[in-house]
Amino acid sequence: MSALAELYREIENCQDCGLAKCRIRVVPGEGAENAELFFIGEAPGWHEDQQGRPFVGPAGQFLEQLLASIDLQREQVYIANVIKCRPPQNRDPLPVEIEACRKWLDRQIELIRPKMIITLGRYSLARYFPDDSIGKIHGKARKIGDTIYYPMYHPAAALHQGSLRRIIEADMLKIPELLAQGGKIAEATAALKPLNQVQGQGKQLSLF
Ligand code: URA
Repeated sequence: MSALAELYREIENCQDCGLAKCRIRVVPGEGAENAELFFIGEAPGWHEDQQGRPFVGPAGQFLEQLLASIDLQREQVYIANVIKCRPPQNRDPLPVEIEACRKWLDRQIELIRPKMIITLGRYSLARYFPDDSIGKIHGKARKIGDTIYYPMYHPAAALHQGSLRRIIEADMLKIPELLAQGGKIAEATAALKPLNQVQGQGKQLSLF
């Protein structure tokens, strides 16, 4: 069994928070084991809970359109959520649930080793940049070590608030260039003032 398959098995058996009691299916995440892009959403919704797969409802359809705009299919990237089980009535995830689930996403990222982590919405943003607001830093990449972090609005936000649609589409279109320029960006930012600290990593961040 591959390390990723073993991890999925562990996640599917997780009972570490109260959501285990109300879920239909665990939604570990899915995608290419060698994905360069790793998208992190918030939490499974109704459709995801039914199918055990991330982003398969309306927000997922929009995410697939966004990926198509940069010539990618969902199978070529990795898609996961901050928490792996649906909160009842799609309420916001609780801090205790996010904390209980943190280890799973950490291990997924360790195994996939993506070049770029794209946070979708405020919960995945807060995992890396707790002091920043999405309105200010969406579409601005930061690099820590070898990984580019790129905050975007959640696709569902664009479905509820039409004016965000063009913003999220424009942010997505910047990804190929950022990916291609990864090495160059690292050199260019070395001299910039550090803006923040990543939780638990203790490394300096640079904005570019
Ligand atoms: N919204 C999310 O954040 N994740 C999903 O998987 C679906 C909708």
